[in-house]
Amino acid sequence: MKRLGLGGAVLLPAGGVLAARKAARAVGLSGGLSSGDVAILKFLAAIEILESDLWQQYNELALGNESYQLALNVLDGDEATYVNLNTRDEFSHAAFINGYLTAKGHQPVSLEPFRNLPSSQATGSNKSAKRLTNLMNLTVDTSFYNRYRSALNPDFGATFPQIVDLVNVPGIPNSDLPLPTDPTFGFMIQLIANTAGFHFASIEQGGASLYQSFLPKANSPEVIKIVGAIGGTEIQHYQTWTDKAGNAPALTDNHGNTVFPQLPSAPALPNPPDGTDNVAPNDTNQIFATPCEFIAPGLPLCSVIRPISTQQGGAVATVAFFKNDGLFIGQGEDFFQFMGELAEAADAAIGEPE
Ligand SMILES: [Fe+2]
Ligand SMILES: [Fe+2]
Repeated sequence: MKRLGLGGAVLLPAGGVLAARKAARAVGLSGGLSSGDVAILKFLAAIEILESDLWQQYNELALGNESYQLALNVLDGDEATYVNLNTRDEFSHAAFINGYLTAKGHQPVSLEPFRNLPSSQATGSNKSAKRLTNLMNLTVDTSFYNRYRSALNPDFGATFPQIVDLVNVPGIPNSDLPLPTDPTFGFMIQLIANTAGFHFASIEQGGASLYQSFLPKANSPEVIKIVGAIGGTEIQHYQTWTDKAGNAPALTDNHGNTVFPQLPSAPALPNPPDGTDNVAPNDTNQIFATPCEFIAPGLPLCSVIRPISTQQGGAVATVAFFKNDGLFIGQGEDFFQFMGELAEAADAAIGEPE
């Protein structure tokens, strides 16, 4: 569409302005975007490209590596299929946000200059592909497990311990490993799948918080719609993965050392039922967001996404979170500078009248 300068606009007869507005509405794109909205969308496009990249790596192995698929499916019979669905969703998010930016006259975001990292060499992986993210040395932050089971809110300063320590471990195999049923070495692929199961939830709860942090900053009704509706699917992802992560089995290595702990699972319901549900707060089945402090201490506790503050869940915090979990090992200073600039601009966005 031809852009009109200010001078051109004042020369248009009133009918022409109305016709132009009508035409813009007809394709569902009304008005320009505030600089804050553009900054939010650009950061989200970058994050969705990164998510697409990491999920693509998971998906190649989940669908193409027998040992890995069997180990993932120990967490849920549909785990590999859910990986495939989550991957599809992330590609759609990235393509949509970049497509929307383009339709509104802005440059789409590309991370192609940073696509330099190696691929897994296990069966199923596109071995020669270059990647943006690294799944080989993950230090997964599993504190979301305790956070979402607590009445405290990180936005008020609360911190939460890890439920399981996953330090410098792979989320995908780099070579072909024995089946999880192998009596001696089956633990190896199962530990990788357990790690992946927690990483899925950890990544997606970060995405859920990020989108929520942008909601009060988005300006146009359309951008609010985009942030709200895509953000809702990030919550769906997290909710699914936090349930499945709880099914990760305890593991010992071939010397009998515990390499993955028994998670705290609830006792079976009394049979026959007696009207009670004797669970502990940290049991694996406590997957819905425990009511916690919200907005201000002293208000009634509320079941909500947390954190949602810029400081704890915003763009800069999200880049730091991904960096700390090892996803960007191998990326250089230029990458961190690029992401840092996008993140700071997005965090600084404020809802402003058009
Ligand atoms: Fe996404
Ligand atoms: Fe997601």
